[in-house]
Amino acid sequence: MHSVLLVPLLACLSFTIIALAQNETRDLTQLLQSNENLTQFTTLLTSYGDIYANLSFQSGVTILAPNDDAFNKIPYSSLGPAFEANQSQIVRSILQYHILPGLHPAGGYNGSFSFDKTWLQNTSYTNVTGGQVVGGVQQAGNVNVFTSGLGTRSTLVTPDLPFIGGIVHVIDNFLVPPQNFIQTAPQFNLTAAGGAVANTSLADYANSQQDITIFVPRNAAFQQLGETLQSMSSIQLQRLLNYHIVNSSTVGYSTNLPNGTVLRTRSGQNLTITFASNSLFVNQARILQQDLLISNGIMHVIDNFLDPDAPSVTADPEIPTAPPLLRGTSLSENVVPFTSFLPTGVTSFDTSSASPTGSFGANDIGKGTSSSTSSRRASSTSSSQEKNGGSRLNLQPAIIAVNSGLLGAFFWFIGTL
Ligand SMILES: *[C@@H]1O[C@H](CO)[C@@H](O)[C@H](O)[C@H]1NC(C)=O
Ligand SMILES: *[C@@H]1O[C@H](CO)[C@@H](O)[C@H](O)[C@H]1NC(C)=O
Ligand SMILES: *[C@@H]1O[C@H](CO)[C@@H](O)[C@H](O)[C@H]1NC(C)=O
Ligand SMILES: *[C@@H]1O[C@H](CO)[C@@H](O)[C@H](O)[C@H]1NC(C)=O
Ligand SMILES: *[C@@H]1O[C@H](CO)[C@@H](O)[C@H](O)[C@H]1NC(C)=O
Ligand SMILES: *[C@@H]1O[C@H](CO)[C@@H](O)[C@H](O)[C@H]1NC(C)=O
Ligand SMILES: *[C@@H]1O[C@H](CO)[C@@H](O)[C@H](O)[C@H]1NC(C)=O
Ligand SMILES: *[C@@H]1O[C@H](CO)[C@@H](O)[C@H](O)[C@H]1NC(C)=O
Ligand SMILES: *[C@@H]1O[C@H](CO)[C@@H](O)[C@H](O)[C@H]1NC(C)=O
Ligand SMILES: *[C@@H]1O[C@H](CO)[C@@H](O)[C@H](O)[C@H]1NC(C)=O
Ligand SMILES: *[C@@H]1O[C@H](CO)[C@@H](O)[C@H](O)[C@H]1NC(C)=O
Ligand SMILES: *[C@@H]1O[C@H](CO)[C@@H](O)[C@H](O)[C@H]1NC(C)=O
Repeated sequence: MHSVLLVPLLACLSFTIIALAQNETRDLTQLLQSNENLTQFTTLLTSYGDIYANLSFQSGVTILAPNDDAFNKIPYSSLGPAFEANQSQIVRSILQYHILPGLHPAGGYNGSFSFDKTWLQNTSYTNVTGGQVVGGVQQAGNVNVFTSGLGTRSTLVTPDLPFIGGIVHVIDNFLVPPQNFIQTAPQFNLTAAGGAVANTSLADYANSQQDITIFVPRNAAFQQLGETLQSMSSIQLQRLLNYHIVNSSTVGYSTNLPNGTVLRTRSGQNLTITFASNSLFVNQARILQQDLLISNGIMHVIDNFLDPDAPSVTADPEIPTAPPLLRGTSLSENVVPFTSFLPTGVTSFDTSSASPTGSFGANDIGKGTSSSTSSRRASSTSSSQEKNGGSRLNLQPAIIAVNSGLLGAFFWFIGTL
């Protein structure tokens, strides 16, 4: 029923936008100069002359232009160091990440995430087939939000400004190019998983294998099995972790995971995706946070481990949290295992002084934290906040409601992690 109405509607909408763009006589320079909120963006874009010139050759491009407010937040964001030192290779990547081939009018987004390619090319941030993506979704109240690396959210404040060659959406916050797994995991309190991967020979693979999908057990799952996991041989641990990693030229964005999808993991056994009761499951485990972008693919946070010895177990949607499949004992005082293996400088929520080394150091955008889950981060951030004068601003991470993809409902799992 819906699609019968929706298809012509969307077609009509995009036709209108294309027609608008075609009839538009204003070029990008004129558009930028006439907008009082894009003064700093204009300066930035024009200082990368090749990108700016390239834009004038386009016949259908979408620019997500951070407004002056967004620029004012930079010093307090993970992008601060790169801008402060004018590290032009990094700033160039940041700028390219804000340009999307094709016209993506605001009204074309709906309640399901759309993962759209960008111009970002540097493989430190984009080791995915076809180029790195940005997530776009329309939330309740017709608010369009874009999600990017380190869980950053940017809200569209002024949509669909046409110029010859495309459209500009004004956004209130910079997009952050996705970082590698080890750098991203701590931002979501996935310190045990990050440390466990770092404690095996999987680290390089997780950080740099192209087109990867990682199902990451939350810290609580590691805690429950702490002692058991730590007493595993590295071969056993690696086998377990391998069952959580999928490499396939189709990255497992939630939009690519319809009900019943079977995914082949690095351990050889399959995983089965179930969509039921408005939730997405992988085998028996519930996906708590979907679609956290990393440089080489995507990760999803799950409530419990997946068991390579029980690959045919599937979800029971009636049970909000299935009992863990793997049995074992926790460490004394419920210590979070493996955390100490995170490389120096990549610690929970305090990356302000991070200078990742060795194989983890390919990227250096993530020196600051993308910030503001202050309530979730309360205990561990106090020191970093003091160091930074307590004034980190809101590059809001996508501890967000992630759409289940099919019914358009949003789930907020903040409380469950
Ligand atoms: C674009 O221009 C054509 C011809 O000049 C006109 O017929 C059409 O209505 C215009 N479209 C819009 C959306 O303004
Ligand atoms: C600039 O931003 C202000 C405050 O958000 C807004 O009221 C104004 O309409 C914006 N100007 C343009 C040209 O979009
Ligand atoms: C930063 O680097 C860019 C590209 O090299 C250059 O065009 C620009 O002038 C520099 N900006 C500052 C403030 O030094
Ligand atoms: C949402 O938009 C995407 C295209 O961006 C489309 O594939 C999908 O079917 C739409 N979903 C709904 C529920 O309309
Ligand atoms: C413009 O940028 C796109 C995407 O990065 C690239 O594919 C294309 O070759 C560039 N074109 C020119 C004329 O530089
Ligand atoms: C993993 O941790 C164990 C115990 O500390 C250690 O013996 C081993 O060398 C570590 N392996 C790697 C690859 O870091
Ligand atoms: C990108 O992926 C390829 C293939 O997996 C890998 O060889 C390469 O090292 C990766 N590049 C980066 C920068 O991680
Ligand atoms: C997965 O990764 C391995 C390298 O570890 C590679 O040999 C294999 O071809 C990859 N599979 C797919 C489907 O990309
Ligand atoms: C998903 O697949 C399962 C098993 O085939 C089925 O029971 C369930 O109804 C399906 N869910 C939806 C939403 O179609
Ligand atoms: C995994 O799934 C594929 C495709 O459904 C199937 O061909 C293969 O036999 C399965 N592998 C295992 C180990 O069950
Ligand atoms: C890619 O990004 C890395 C990390 O920021 C940087 O060191 C490198 O110079 C960039 N490469 C290119 C070709 O821009
Ligand atoms: C991070 O995980 C640990 C271990 O499960 C938990 O005790 C802590 O409350 C979590 N921190 C936040 C901010 O969610």
